[in-house]
Amino acid sequence: MTEIPITPSGQVNPVTLRVSENGESATGSFYEHIGGRPTFEKLVRAFYDGIRTDPVLLPMYPEQPDLEGAIQRLTGFLEQYWGGPGTYSEQRGHPRLRMRHQPFRVNPDARDRWLLHMRSAVDGLGLSPLDDATLWAYLDRAAHAMVNTFEE
Ligand code: HEM
Repeated sequence: MTEIPITPSGQVNPVTLRVSENGESATGSFYEHIGGRPTFEKLVRAFYDGIRTDPVLLPMYPEQPDLEGAIQRLTGFLEQYWGGPGTYSEQRGHPRLRMRHQPFRVNPDARDRWLLHMRSAVDGLGLSPLDDATLWAYLDRAAHAMVNTFEE
């Protein structure tokens, strides 16, 4: 059976035209729909402003006084995920996010803190309720999938 692709915003999208084999979608993406690069930069910078205040999460980034590398990686990943440029994978390869998080103690407390800062960053974007729900459903699910220990 042929599955009908559904876009992140829930639209039925039977044909995804791409400008080149793995290029951007020519029919529009959620990435473009919510404002492209500036929106994702704003989201991730606000998120990391929260991380800077967090006594549990901040120590996970000891080598990064300004967090700029981490900001670029998360921004690049999210924009790629939502249909923007594929720069993240060009520079970092396949995301393999669970594997890349193995060095960190991602317990439910860390997850909830991550989500708290992300929630406040998403609030700052002032998206429509549907776009907000689309973005949030993914972030919430991804954060739950990232938990790799239940130790305190
Ligand atoms: C649930 C709690 C989470 C914690 C505590 C956490 C923590 C971290 C830390 C400490 C890093 C290393 C920083 C760096 O050098 O880039 C990192 C990297 C990263 N995280 Fe998370 N993270 C969490 C969830 C997530 C989620 C839900 C996503 C995706 C939606 C995500 C995406 C990324 C990406 C893309 C990187 C960079 C990977 C790379 O290319 O090396 N993280 N995370």
